[in-house]
Amino acid sequence: MDLQVNEINRLPVHTSFLAHDTDAPQANRYLSLDGDWKFHWVANLNQRPTDFYRTDLDDSGWTTMPVPGMWELNGYGDPVYVNIGFPWRDNWKNDPPRVPVQDNHVGTYRRHITLPADWKGKQVIAHFESVTSNINLWVNGRFVGYAEDSKTAAEFDITPYLKDGDNLLAFQVMRWCDGTYSEDQDFWRLTGVARSSYLYCRDKGNHIDDLRVTTGLTDDLKDGTLMIAPFITGKGKMSYKLLNARGNEVNMVPAGENCWTIPNVNPWTAETPHLYNLVATLSPADKKTKGETVTIKVGFRRVEIKNGQLLVNGKAIYIKGANRHELDPDGGYVVSRERMIADIKEMKRMNINAVRTCHYADDPQWYDLCDEYGLYVIAEANQEGHGFHYDPNTAPTYLPMFAKPILERNQHNVSVQFNHPSVIIWSLGNETCDGPNFTAARDWIRATDPSRPIHWERAQGGENTDLMCPMYASPEWCERYASNPASTKPLIQCEYNHTMGNSGGGLMEYWDIVRRLPKFQGGFVWDFVDQGLRVKTADGKEYYSYGGDYNTHDPSDNNFNCNGLVSPDRVWNPHAYETAYYYQNVWAEDINVQQGDIAVRNEFFFRDLSNVKMRWQLLVNGKSVLNGEENNLNVAPQGRQMLHLPIANTLATLDPNSEVLLNVDFLLKNKEPLMEAGQRIAYAQLPIHEVTAQTAPLPHDKVKFSIKQTKQGPLTIAGDGVEIAFDGKTGFMTKYLVNGRPILGEGGTLKPNFWRAVTDNDMGAGLQQRLKVWRNPVMNLTSLGVDKKASSKSQATVVARYDMPEVHATLTLTYEIHAGGAMCVTQGIAFDDSFTEIPEMLRFGMVMEMPYQVDNSEFYGRGPVENYADRRYSQRLGIYRQSADEQFYPYIRPQETGTKGDIRWWKQADSQGIGIKVTADKPFYASALHYDISMLDEGDQKHQRHPSELSKSAYTVLTLDSEHCGVGGIDSWGARPLEQYRLPAIDRTCSFTITPIAAN
Ligand code: GAL
Repeated sequence: MDLQVNEINRLPVHTSFLAHDTDAPQANRYLSLDGDWKFHWVANLNQRPTDFYRTDLDDSGWTTMPVPGMWELNGYGDPVYVNIGFPWRDNWKNDPPRVPVQDNHVGTYRRHITLPADWKGKQVIAHFESVTSNINLWVNGRFVGYAEDSKTAAEFDITPYLKDGDNLLAFQVMRWCDGTYSEDQDFWRLTGVARSSYLYCRDKGNHIDDLRVTTGLTDDLKDGTLMIAPFITGKGKMSYKLLNARGNEVNMVPAGENCWTIPNVNPWTAETPHLYNLVATLSPADKKTKGETVTIKVGFRRVEIKNGQLLVNGKAIYIKGANRHELDPDGGYVVSRERMIADIKEMKRMNINAVRTCHYADDPQWYDLCDEYGLYVIAEANQEGHGFHYDPNTAPTYLPMFAKPILERNQHNVSVQFNHPSVIIWSLGNETCDGPNFTAARDWIRATDPSRPIHWERAQGGENTDLMCPMYASPEWCERYASNPASTKPLIQCEYNHTMGNSGGGLMEYWDIVRRLPKFQGGFVWDFVDQGLRVKTADGKEYYSYGGDYNTHDPSDNNFNCNGLVSPDRVWNPHAYETAYYYQNVWAEDINVQQGDIAVRNEFFFRDLSNVKMRWQLLVNGKSVLNGEENNLNVAPQGRQMLHLPIANTLATLDPNSEVLLNVDFLLKNKEPLMEAGQRIAYAQLPIHEVTAQTAPLPHDKVKFSIKQTKQGPLTIAGDGVEIAFDGKTGFMTKYLVNGRPILGEGGTLKPNFWRAVTDNDMGAGLQQRLKVWRNPVMNLTSLGVDKKASSKSQATVVARYDMPEVHATLTLTYEIHAGGAMCVTQGIAFDDSFTEIPEMLRFGMVMEMPYQVDNSEFYGRGPVENYADRRYSQRLGIYRQSADEQFYPYIRPQETGTKGDIRWWKQADSQGIGIKVTADKPFYASALHYDISMLDEGDQKHQRHPSELSKSAYTVLTLDSEHCGVGGIDSWGARPLEQYRLPAIDRTCSFTITPIAAN
């Protein structure tokens, strides 16, 4: 344990490439080490075998472990999840460089290898792409070397230890080493070999050790510049060829030593990921050597910061970003190439154009794929010392003792990823106390690669960063920074919009500022994927685990690692739709849509819309009445095109009370990499004539109800095929029969509701405690009776009044009951003004417990995906049909789900279509679920719950909210939804009209 010795005999870290004999394919030179190895595991460091490398050791009693493979997911130890604090938190006190002996699992691997015959005489290198936390390698009983930094390949020259025939490779891995003090990232703490490992050979005396390529564009952005720095062993000479995408050689005009100009290049951007192949060949040094060839993908682009803006190829691009951890629900850190491609595919569908590799260097293949498919990358070094916090007086990471690991980890990151055009920014790491150690890392990077800016969040805009890259700054803060003329650095949030659980509100506010203020260029959503691990129970149920699910002795930060846009299996979480929407690159704008005039705005910076067609649809009261297609969009990057749609004649014929909306969809004409032909890439809904309140008229037919009320007993109303009862004690409606059909389920009620199953953001802000009084407020019935004055020949009016002592309010429920059982229910709450400290509500509305089988919803409102006040515009107004089960989204930790907003009408019916239709005096929110709110609600604290454990309600639970608090999204540890989306305790009323509907 020595912070100054982090490697022994490790070969210098270099750019990732696979060389081959100039005249032979690559495969001849590589031997995979993947597959099962003999494996031995001990729970504590002091129990580790110390003779594991001996050739005469009998390992027949050992088990096996796959390479790659994480121990905890293959039967050894439990996954631990902690955010802040090292993985031994709660059990052992930090004492760098020492780490615990107890629970410091050690795994030992052995495998026999026979080398291909034609490798004889060659130099053989062992390549371990990612081993957590360290690796001690021995070959044929002799020590080879040691390495830390679990996210950078460790390479060792094993030539001197090899022999003909059988060779024994043995290595030992510790769960924790002193390097773990630099790997305190907020993620699952897993151990083992995470990426592919292999041997390769080359000529010992003549080979390419490293090749660094720096590309750029000339000032007129027309020609490419290419600078190559080769690092060679031996006397061979380098020669270079540049091939374009069609494989044709392109002209390289010499411009100095190892520098060239490439006339008229096709520049690389995330939108136009044009790549060239640089074929670099080292000639044979003599008759015995063959020489070798390395092919490197090269993209020409230019990154700079000018006038407080980040420019790529001269354009102040937007960063529509996401943070991405490498995590697979089954493999943990082992992420296949297919999974990586699948991630990019989803990112493309979400219009994500940038990724931050939080908070370490990814598998080299990831950067290759970003080059190929086009994603801007902030490449982050594997350095996080969050558990030491940020106070320079107390954080050891501020001290010289951490200078070496911090510098080395940055050198590794830059040295490996140097050649990737996708990497536009280097990041010094995450959440470690800023100070001289980072200044040294910054200086080294600036000297080594002046072509890319540096990102360092902890510098907080100071000297050690070229960007202003905060995390979780509010829209207000961003607006202030970006509108301040004194701000000199581009504002790009390295993390924002914390999408934990049901979250993701407030994107509209951020993106409004980005699109308005040039210095605010976007940010990276936290984060791409929920870090749940798949668990299968004995009875065949599946769920995703989170922190604390495995035992009670390990520290845990609960489900705080489930903040993804997508679920562990890459299913879009509901908030992902909102991200995709605000990240769109094509927009339809209302010029004078009443006359059919709209504009198409192209927000791409480097591509026109020639591969995009537009479809439009005119909706009248939610139904399509006219549609059309525009096949010849001609919009330059950042340009606009005016279009006139032939809708005026149709509009003129419409009933003036109809709601009229224009839907616009932008589709790809031809397929593109990872995107299908016909794929929708953007959409809009432009209101032409909004009719928000669509209250159904109540019948005015005469009715003859017989009304009965006994003291303390129920109040009943019967007649005209209707039977309605109100409980004498609670005052709530307990029976609602229409033509013998129950609208309420057995034992169910219609009652006021102010609560939702608390979301992760609610709990982060402590709302389950602070607003608790609204969970089940005391409601003392003060009167229940028929209001004779308000009643008439066509209506019976029942009024129930309540005292709500805890919230110092009175509540009145008024039921106007009409022929056929139609009714209007009005709920009013009035607060005693002398109390000002009444907490806010989460909802203001009602909940109706309907029979279970009345579980088909049809509604006219925003959908189909659940949406809330501060997360809604990705969902267009329309008519949608969903079952109660479809409305439930299985957030990894159960919570509020299923709500839809801006509802004009909502029908709830059984399979025959018998049920009710609800309208209101203004657009409302509703959901119909097979869960009671109390079942989804976590209570005062979290309890390791998963959707698979929930029991269903006896009812279809219909919630009708006139107001529903926003879900928030700034962060999940204190921020509330923006003020305009909250529900202060002020006097409120709402009315719902319920109309029974007969079979369809
Ligand atoms: C940030 C951190 C992330 C993650 C996030 C909360 O502070 O950089 O790694 O912990 O907060 O989910």
